[in-house]
Amino acid sequence: MSEFQVQKNELATHRIVETPLPKAGAGEIVARIERFAFTANNITYGVTGDRLGYWQFFPPGGDNGGTWGLLPVWGVADVVESNVDEVPVGDRLFGYFPPATTLKITPVGVTDQRLIDGATHRKSLPPPYNSYRRVYAEPGYDNAMDNERMLLYPLYITSFSLWDYLLDNDWYDAQQIVIVSASSKTSIGLAFALHADSKAPPVTGITSARNVDFVTSLGHYDQTLSYDELGDIDASLPTTIVDMSGNREVLGKLHARLGDNMKRTLNVGLTHWEEQHAGEGFIAERSHLFFAPSHIQQRLKEWGPRGFEQRSTEFMIKAALASRAWLHLERLQGLEGLAGVYADVCAGRTAPYKGLIVEL
Ligand SMILES: NC(=O)c1ccc[n+]([C@@H]2O[C@H](COP(=O)([O-])OP(=O)(O)OC[C@H]3O[C@@H](n4cnc5c(N)ncnc54)[C@H](OP(=O)(O)O)[C@@H]3O)[C@@H](O)[C@H]2O)c1
Repeated sequence: MSEFQVQKNELATHRIVETPLPKAGAGEIVARIERFAFTANNITYGVTGDRLGYWQFFPPGGDNGGTWGLLPVWGVADVVESNVDEVPVGDRLFGYFPPATTLKITPVGVTDQRLIDGATHRKSLPPPYNSYRRVYAEPGYDNAMDNERMLLYPLYITSFSLWDYLLDNDWYDAQQIVIVSASSKTSIGLAFALHADSKAPPVTGITSARNVDFVTSLGHYDQTLSYDELGDIDASLPTTIVDMSGNREVLGKLHARLGDNMKRTLNVGLTHWEEQHAGEGFIAERSHLFFAPSHIQQRLKEWGPRGFEQRSTEFMIKAALASRAWLHLERLQGLEGLAGVYADVCAGRTAPYKGLIVEL
């Protein structure tokens, strides 16, 4: 089997490694990964790999000396070997995979709808990442939707969670919401949700100068500014910031400009992962991390799995349909195809309307 490995401490460095094909032992299955999506989110898994445990999901094979790792991806896979009666060969799974051709899974908690990988090394990791959907059990499952699903699901479920969280907190008394790194898909999903909510405050998107026209054309943001135009933010309004960039210099400038009107900053992403030095003016005491899997776990408890699924699915379908107006899926052949665009994804050079799908 093949794996796309990256240097854990130098994420831009990558290699493709051949490793022995796994064999299913007792209570195990082997799944052949068919395709997966790749965005800045996958790079962020690497940036936070040590802190949040992302390197632990899929230990790399081959001679890696502990310095190489596998960035998790979202994709679909077919079961090709099984020692688990409830999960036959031919079953199809949607979920969290390594950027590799094969994954061995230890199914536990198997229902018609899903299974959990109970492998020991994954037990302490956030539960939503260990759950796999058995897609053939879904009414009306259509594999033509797999590409959009693997690309948008992990990002738009975060957009939905952010909208739900902001609403639940009365927008932190803000009269405007500022979304930083506005061209990212997670941001676009949130802007879509806020735009559709007549009670939500107006939304300003901040993006790179080269992405301003694209972000404006979406029609989800009330105003779009570039990183060079932060001085045009209306500082007289109480403001909540949702940050996908992790760029402390930008946040520092925004916080300094808004002062007491900076009501709250949600630190969500790290698209600008190479710009993480401390920013003067950054107000740490009114900033906090937002981690979608934790919010989802809380809502699952409060609403129950069905309640959560109903509410989130309704949003996901609407948001995915709206994305068709701008999203261009780009299919890449094999892990070599990923290797060909990887440097651009790392550096943020991929056009924001592209959705990269790696076909194995
Ligand atoms: N906390 C959570 O639970 C959670 C959940 C899901 C996603 N996220 C995070 O949200 C962020 C967005 O993910 P995504 O997959 O939606 O992103 P994406 O669609 O791939 O975003 C691409 C955009 O990110 C910016 N960017 C990417 N790499 C860059 C670089 N090296 N330098 C400068 N700008 C760069 C650019 O936007 P601009 O020009 O507009 O800045 C670019 O157009 C990620 O950090 C992801 O991990 C967090």
